[in-house]
Amino acid sequence: MVKSRQKSRAFLKWAGGKYNLVDAIQQHLPDSDTLIEPFVGAGSVFLNTDYPSYKLNDINADLINLYQLVKTQPDSFIADAKTLFTQLTNQREVYLRLRQQFNLSDDAYERALLFLYLNRHGYNGLCRYNLSGKFNVPFGSYKKPYFPQAELYFFAEKAQRAEFSCASYQQLMLQAPVGAVVYCLYRTKKELFAWVVDNALIFESFLRKVLFTFTRKRRFVNHAYKWRTY
Ligand SMILES: C[S@@+](CC[C@H](N)C(=O)[O-])C[C@H]1O[C@@H](n2cnc3c(N)ncnc32)[C@H](O)[C@@H]1O
Repeated sequence: MVKSRQKSRAFLKWAGGKYNLVDAIQQHLPDSDTLIEPFVGAGSVFLNTDYPSYKLNDINADLINLYQLVKTQPDSFIADAKTLFTQLTNQREVYLRLRQQFNLSDDAYERALLFLYLNRHGYNGLCRYNLSGKFNVPFGSYKKPYFPQAELYFFAEKAQRAEFSCASYQQLMLQAPVGAVVYCLYRTKKELFAWVVDNALIFESFLRKVLFTFTRKRRFVNHAYKWRTY
């Protein structure tokens, strides 16, 4: 498939990010007008491929809200986010105050700014909520958290070709256009990384079975599936 020239890093730290695997993943992705990622996470595959259009989905509403704002208001968003990356804001008490502010806020712009701040200042870039939906990752104690300005601008530019949605993968796949390529969860070169959609309903039930195996056995599925072509 068409690769993007240089390897690009995501602006978020994200558990399960595929940055180290993008070279291998690229080799398995066929050409198409559209790449669909039902579980976009930090977007390493999106950032390191070159499709004319993308449909990027994640069930995490804070993540998708952040992506929408980086796409639509890059300059003001990046400038405002930068003010949260100072020596003063890199202290446990300030972190806990800003975390509380995030948890109490229902303003999309404020939540997105604070979500990015929490991602870079919290422990290990974890994204974890308690049962009441409150973000509860402890302070990360990093010397000088990195502000990913170049990565944010790169994402914003590329996002002009992307549509974002916040839904479960089942909902998303039922609307997958015929001929689109779908990338999801696989890990090694031996496993399949993408499918061409021929029938959204069949695909959706297939994916559900694969994920069922994945979550039940708590490991990656090792079957090598064949390309679905038509
Ligand atoms: C391992 S990450 C994806 C990593 C991504 N490929 C990358 O390179 O950064 C998995 C993502 O799936 C999302 N997710 C989990 N369950 C989901 C569901 N049922 N529907 C849609 N997204 C889901 C999580 O919020 C998380 O962001």
